[in-house]
Amino acid sequence: MSEQVDQSKRNMLFGAAGLLGGVAALAAAVPFVGSMLPAADTLAASKTEFDVGTVESGQLVVIQWQGKPVFVVNRTKELLAQIDGHDEMLKDPESREIEAVSAAWMTDENRKYRAIKPEYLVVVASCTHLGCIPMYKATKGRKDWGDSVPEDWPGGWHCPCHGSLYDISARVINDSPAPHNLHLMPYKYTGETSVVIG
Ligand code: FES
Repeated sequence: MSEQVDQSKRNMLFGAAGLLGGVAALAAAVPFVGSMLPAADTLAASKTEFDVGTVESGQLVVIQWQGKPVFVVNRTKELLAQIDGHDEMLKDPESREIEAVSAAWMTDENRKYRAIKPEYLVVVASCTHLGCIPMYKATKGRKDWGDSVPEDWPGGWHCPCHGSLYDISARVINDSPAPHNLHLMPYKYTGETSVVIG
């Protein structure tokens, strides 16, 4: 008998605990859903403004967008010339494996440049293998870089983590462990050299 009483008390306790848990979950859910609505300052923080004209000719700078590192490169005529002539070395020379939302700005004319204005490349600075930041090795040819790059190096990036290689348009080179080209982002020009990313 006393065992039956104990059991029914226990059931009540579990029931009450479950109810309280449900109320607590509901109470917790309301502010959570509320916090999922982006505030104006959050939306602003999701965008990064940058003047690409501040990057010197031939140089690379790293900026931040949504907490991620981003490469901005000012490509000279010589660097732009290094984009051509090695499509057979690339996994995805025409950047077909990209999310449409990230590069809605891409046209057939700027596809090989992977940039709205060919001279300014803006790409996520994380290797698509495991996320290391690749090293900029822009000079064409192996002599500057030794055996970290192939004999016919077209210039670009070398990821020292596991050896992935990308060309000067950040397109991944065959046999790299990285599966994709460096990722692109939605961005637009708001002036001659002012861009807003995001
Ligand atoms: S993280 Fe770049 S090759 Fe592995």
